[in-house]
Amino acid sequence: MSNYHIKTLEEYFQVYRKSIREPENFWEEIAEEHFLWRKKWDNVLSWDFSKPEVKWFEGAKLNITENCIDRHLATRGDKTAIIFEPNNPDEASQHITYRQLYEQVCRMANVLKSQGVKKGDRVCIYLPMIPELAISVLACARIGAIHSVVFAGFSSTALATRINDCDCQMVITADGSYRGAKTIDLKGIVDEALLSCPDVKNVLVAKRINSDINMKDERDVWLQPLLDNASTNCPAEIMASEDTLFILYTSGSTGKPKGMVHSTAGYMVYTAYTFKNIFQYRENDVYWCTADIGWITGHSYIVYGPLSNGATTIMFEGVPQYPDYGRFWQIVEKHKVNQFYTAPTAIRALAKQGSEWVEKYDLSSLKVLGTVGEPINEEAWHWYNETVGKKRSPIVDTWWQTETGGIMISPIPFVTPTKPTYATLPFIGIQPALMDETGEELKGNQKEGRLCIKYPWPSMARTIWGNHQRYKDTYFSTFENKYFTGDGALRDEVGYYRITGRVDDVIIVSGHNLGTAPIEDAINEHPAVAESAIVGFPHDIKGSALYGYVTLKDTGETRNQDNLKKEINQLISDRIGAIAKLDKIQFTEGLPKTRSGKIMRRILRKIAEKDTSNLGDISTLLNPEVVQNIIDNSL
Ligand code: WTA
Repeated sequence: MSNYHIKTLEEYFQVYRKSIREPENFWEEIAEEHFLWRKKWDNVLSWDFSKPEVKWFEGAKLNITENCIDRHLATRGDKTAIIFEPNNPDEASQHITYRQLYEQVCRMANVLKSQGVKKGDRVCIYLPMIPELAISVLACARIGAIHSVVFAGFSSTALATRINDCDCQMVITADGSYRGAKTIDLKGIVDEALLSCPDVKNVLVAKRINSDINMKDERDVWLQPLLDNASTNCPAEIMASEDTLFILYTSGSTGKPKGMVHSTAGYMVYTAYTFKNIFQYRENDVYWCTADIGWITGHSYIVYGPLSNGATTIMFEGVPQYPDYGRFWQIVEKHKVNQFYTAPTAIRALAKQGSEWVEKYDLSSLKVLGTVGEPINEEAWHWYNETVGKKRSPIVDTWWQTETGGIMISPIPFVTPTKPTYATLPFIGIQPALMDETGEELKGNQKEGRLCIKYPWPSMARTIWGNHQRYKDTYFSTFENKYFTGDGALRDEVGYYRITGRVDDVIIVSGHNLGTAPIEDAINEHPAVAESAIVGFPHDIKGSALYGYVTLKDTGETRNQDNLKKEINQLISDRIGAIAKLDKIQFTEGLPKTRSGKIMRRILRKIAEKDTSNLGDISTLLNPEVVQNIIDNSL
């Protein structure tokens, strides 16, 4: 018997040791006993980080939707798979059983086929958090099409870049979306994006807000009538273990987003196994992750992880503050949520409103609380633990990335003693390493360094779409023979990990990864701007917020600075999305640079953090004189 469900600390250590000593035997047992295979593998793992190349369960055949849906029908056909909770609390929630999910996914899969989508084709999904989103994702997987979900808060330019990068020929969207008291014209954004996506042949449009939209002849089709006429039976395409399941874009340090490519079998096994253990999910529990399916958290822990365990998973369309700050807790009470998984930024925003909003509701169903996306600060951790969890529900601070596919470092609730702000111990099968700047591994406890992973795990991304070299350069070239995460971490005296934050040019704002380069590119498009540099600075709610230093062209004319700031933020909104807007913009006469012309962000970061006591030796700069001026005028 494999240890699919870990229940004690002793068991954790025992299973962990096994997963490190005999990884292939370990994962083979998990895969064999808990999943549905059309054909078993010939080889559990082959890998070479120097290429890099990683293959899990080679030779196996499967379809992930048979694991997420079909195999549950006999025993859980009438069990709720997805609870859809709408934006507006007055609108009824929907309970979709496993059998209904099966039928709806089959219908959608048949619609995709009838529109010419074939195995291996890329389908862009740009939808709000409505059931059609999960159903479209699963329908793609059903027929072997590769889904590329783009978060429906991205702008038309960002959407177009992502559509073109992986040559999507179809987009699935909605007429619009609800977001708190507002509606968003999603279809309008798609129309604008498609002006620069000549290869998109079909757009399927779900009706959500009943707005009057423009439908382009021969390209745009309403989804519902097609679904109504489609068959509820669609045989699953048999996929190879390493076939691509999806692409999901994440920001990098250069302008272009990276299309992380995830494969089928390894991703399935790892997301299922982590879900079961890290949330300690039991058969009749109701699980809620507040993320959007447009991010990796939603892929792995709203859709694939929960459904492959036959769980009940909530999809919430709205926002935490609408109609008031009690919305999350009202939903917990209404659906008797047992596991609740959210982001530190949401916790901080809600904590700021006071505990009254929480105390109005009965939260006694809660068993496990989770966080993800950024380091959680001590204050937020305690508020979550005391006010929400009443000190009864352990907090799992889960560290992972779009690239890792699943949770990598996290407590197992009721098993691993928690420690505020610590992600604690590596999950089963994960071999972290801390490296110093010279490339030496820091062995032993009480060490701080750059966080790497030494050995492959099943759900790791296999490449960057269309650019394997970039995959190698970004993740496997900084440290030889190791996956480099881009994060710094420390290991305490008992071996617990605490993630200290990014060590590259990615800034995490409200849990969203933002690369500095694309934002600077957007700012530099402004005709008045000569150059710019973005850094992060601490922010009460967002964790980090963006501080932009902007140098204007010397045209002799004076411009209203407030208007300029607005125009700059508008440009960022148009090019990337509102999530990337700057909180502070400082106009400077110059940016500090090295003699080779590289902007010294370290100095700018210190100034933004209001910590100018130790700027280091600035005399070697090309233009040391600008520094004092920037400090004097800092915001
Ligand atoms: C950060 C989200 C501290 C980290 C699943 C990582 C965290 C990046 C945590 C990935 C955590 C995520 N504690 N930092 N528990 N979880 N991060 O790709 O910097 O959106 O590299 O994946 O978020 O963000 P991504």
